[in-house]
Amino acid sequence: MIDPNWLTSALAQAKTKPLTHLVNLEQPLNIEDYICAGGYCGARKAVTELTPKEVLALVSDSGLKGRGGAGFPTGMKWSCVPSLQDKSLAMNATGNSYLICNGDEMEPGTFKDRYLLEGVPHQLIESMIIASYTLSANKAFIFLRGEYHVAAKRLQQAIDQAYENNWLGERIQGTGYRLDLYIHTSAGRYICGEETALINALEGKRANPRAKPPFPQVSGLFGKPTVVNNVETLSNLPHILKHGGEWFKNLSPNSDPGTKIYAACGQVKNPGLWELPMGVTIRELLYEHAGGMKSGMQLKGLLPGGASTDFLVPEHLDTPMDFDSIGKAGSRLGTGGLIVLGDKHCPVAMVLNLLQFFAQESCGWCTPCRDGTAWAVEILTRIEHGQGTSKDLTQLAELCDFMWLGKTHCALAPGAVEPLKSAMRYFKDDFEQHIKQGCCTYHQNNLLSAKYISKVANNG
Ligand SMILES: Cc1cc2nc3c(=O)[nH]c(=O)nc-3n(C[C@H](O)[C@H](O)[C@H](O)COP(=O)(O)O)c2cc1C
Ligand code: SF4
Repeated sequence: MIDPNWLTSALAQAKTKPLTHLVNLEQPLNIEDYICAGGYCGARKAVTELTPKEVLALVSDSGLKGRGGAGFPTGMKWSCVPSLQDKSLAMNATGNSYLICNGDEMEPGTFKDRYLLEGVPHQLIESMIIASYTLSANKAFIFLRGEYHVAAKRLQQAIDQAYENNWLGERIQGTGYRLDLYIHTSAGRYICGEETALINALEGKRANPRAKPPFPQVSGLFGKPTVVNNVETLSNLPHILKHGGEWFKNLSPNSDPGTKIYAACGQVKNPGLWELPMGVTIRELLYEHAGGMKSGMQLKGLLPGGASTDFLVPEHLDTPMDFDSIGKAGSRLGTGGLIVLGDKHCPVAMVLNLLQFFAQESCGWCTPCRDGTAWAVEILTRIEHGQGTSKDLTQLAELCDFMWLGKTHCALAPGAVEPLKSAMRYFKDDFEQHIKQGCCTYHQNNLLSAKYISKVANNG
């Protein structure tokens, strides 16, 4: 039984934190409590009062952009599905397409979807009913990160309750609409989050990305039109259906509408997640919500949207965290999760760590990524260990071009380039110091303090 006081305070936050106000990590709401708190109203409105095209118009008007990393407008993505373009198809188009919710979430520094999946599973199911109905899909899938065991268990319980209460299955709420929803847990590779690799994995194939076009909206899962949307993107739908597009736009002070679940990790006092109006400044996020830098540390740089985004530096602190503004500052909003670097840590070591991840997760399908990421790791290791030369810096810069957009099948390699290239620009001195002095200030400090600690310890 949910504590009524908890529910009252959660409902008080409904207007400012629509996505997270019902999150309860200890004990997510069961279907009765979720309905009492206003749940399934959006799905009811969609399936009983609106046509798929009317839902599409509402979502397009709201200006919702995808929260999976690229910020692509959701309504525009949906409108490419043939059943929403051709009038005759739209009339009898059931079972012609699939919806997939992308809950793979393996981007380092990103943990927002897990919060929604574990904390309010019925909200995602309601969202998927709305999206599937709009796309005339009778089968939908949640592609879940393999390690998200708690989320898998809670989602399955919520799906079972939704079937028992006629929110899934045949003739949903007395309408002619039918939907079956399945969970698919990933075997566990970062590349499975890329939408076409994800589709291959779901078909039981090796998770290599597919060449585009055709785009999944036209030919996706088993060759049928398929929409892949992120967990957070979908979770906005019940609220847009309930309150309308204008309300959604007004949640944010700038041109990117809605709220965003931002995160911060790294050298901050309070790592965590916060649902805030889209466009909050980096400064507010870092210093008010994440509590500022760990004591004794100054900000050196940060990745604004997960591991595959470009570094920003202290001069960017007043940049709003929305897609356009972060883009103009030279990076990407990505998943909205800050990874913060302090002035007592080495940027070369941090970038080496990130590149090791990308090299390990490269699916190996295209040469620039398969060889380029491994080569970058080799060079960075040399530099980090004080054995680099200035030629290594030139070679790293060339590698960044070799792996850039348009030269690979998917965005993993360009994503790996972003922190590397920007680190070489903003932290050039650190790279050069490694080469000239064979070491860096951070290591010297660490070595000195380690020597000091052992000296004090040995002296008793
Ligand atoms: C290497 C790689 C990994 C990705 N991982 C994820 C992921 O875990 N979750 C996600 O939603 N999108 C991920 N994406 C983006 C997806 O391909 C896709 O754009 C996204 O799911 C679309 O959802 P949206 O339109 O709702 O943002 C990844 C992309 C790449 C290139
Ligand atoms: S860029 Fe990397 S991950 Fe993407 S298809 Fe090529 S080898 Fe695979």
